[in-house]
Amino acid sequence: MARLLRAAAAASVIAQAAASAGAETSLPDKLEGHGGPIKSVTVSADGTHVLTASFDYALIYWDVSDPDPDLVHRLRGHGGAANDAAFVPGRNTAVSVGDDGTLIQWDLATGDPLGAVPSDPIKMLDVDVAPDGRLAAAAAWDGTARLYDLTEMVEIARLPHRANVNAVAFSDDGAMLYTAAYDGQITAWDVASQRALRPVHSHGWGVNSIAMLPGNRLAFGGLDGSFGVIDLANDGTADTVQDLAKSDRPIQTVRASADGALVGFGDGAGEVAIFTTDSGALLERGAVTYGPVWDFDFIPGTQNIYHVGLDDFAALWRISPRDFAPIQAELPRRFQIRDSEDPGELEFLRKCSVCHTLTPDDGNRAGPTLHGLFGRQAGSLPDYPYSPALRNLDVVWTEDTVAQLFDDGPDVMVPGTTMPVQRLKQVTRRDELIRFLKTATAVVD
Ligand code: HEC
Repeated sequence: MARLLRAAAAASVIAQAAASAGAETSLPDKLEGHGGPIKSVTVSADGTHVLTASFDYALIYWDVSDPDPDLVHRLRGHGGAANDAAFVPGRNTAVSVGDDGTLIQWDLATGDPLGAVPSDPIKMLDVDVAPDGRLAAAAAWDGTARLYDLTEMVEIARLPHRANVNAVAFSDDGAMLYTAAYDGQITAWDVASQRALRPVHSHGWGVNSIAMLPGNRLAFGGLDGSFGVIDLANDGTADTVQDLAKSDRPIQTVRASADGALVGFGDGAGEVAIFTTDSGALLERGAVTYGPVWDFDFIPGTQNIYHVGLDDFAALWRISPRDFAPIQAELPRRFQIRDSEDPGELEFLRKCSVCHTLTPDDGNRAGPTLHGLFGRQAGSLPDYPYSPALRNLDVVWTEDTVAQLFDDGPDVMVPGTTMPVQRLKQVTRRDELIRFLKTATAVVD
């Protein structure tokens, strides 16, 4: 019986979707402009704008109100991958967090940072803003959730956990904060006193993502592929957890639509599944990309989502009426290439190309172009926003200094650089890479 009711509920949602399908055709199919994989996508409450946060250290603020998407601003300021963003209700601003451990508030009218709260370079994967737009919370990989005052742009508390914190979500009234950690603990905090109120659920595996649902419920997705809903009114005892689905892969992201009618997950192997929130019925499930779905978001007033992952673009997926269009990923992605005649080129493709081009144009990658590298003063390209550490490094790039960069590691040779720590341990591979770079970066007159 319950099953029949669920099927009926799903059918009615599909009928509604079909009725509103006419309004959906104007959305852009693809948002192209990043120079690297995309970690998160967030749609504004009115459905006209989108924020994407990328591995290329930047965010992009998009206008999606007609089929030809408008890149309104490229938001540059993070010294590492940008991992998540959230619009601030009641203000024309947004906040973002990244691998640099910094929370930035952006003025969306100008694209400039209004303020930043830096910290040690700790991975921060998730950010949420309270409904009144005054407080933000971020999930950090030093075992804390952090609370910020967005008016003063200061950190006001660190809430201690026993493991890295993966996700944060404010309750609808902003009085509570829910956090989810790598040890599987979901905890409720009282925002005013900054005290842990109670454990809400203890999942046997790490919890990667959570989302608030209407009716005081919380959806969560686990490293083990579990996707469930917790009834918070009943204190999250075991029998108040409803298991909605199980994936073979880790759940990467859980999202609810703005009106709370739909909830869904994206997993580690390119699948998205969408459920109706009231009955828990599966509405649609399908492969949207190759590789992980790092994030997706519903577009209010439509039955569409934008999803992101290893590609440089966000792509539209029509949940209903179902979109059977081919997956748009272009394979192999440059950093996934597995063979080449030249071992030095292979090394470059796999270890450097995600962040660097070899052409005069830097392709919006995280790092500066390596075109014309040899003989160049470190940190000297006029258009690239270098860290002070690299800009002030008194080194000219030669075979020897590039070799030293990867023998010692960027963190040792250039303390404070925004290039991530990496060493090339095998001397032959390193030498092959440098030999390849010598020719591939040469400026031909
Ligand atoms: C995750 C992104 C990332 C990867 C991967 C990466 N880099 Fe970088 N690289 C950067 C960033 C960011 C900078 C600028 C750092 C700064 O301003 O402190 C940089 C700077 C450099 C510079 C200095 C350029 C200049 O103009 O002074 C060189 C040389 C370099 N990288 C080489 C490499 C090579 C070779 C590889 C592959 C083995 C590599 N990088 C992999 C992000 C990356």
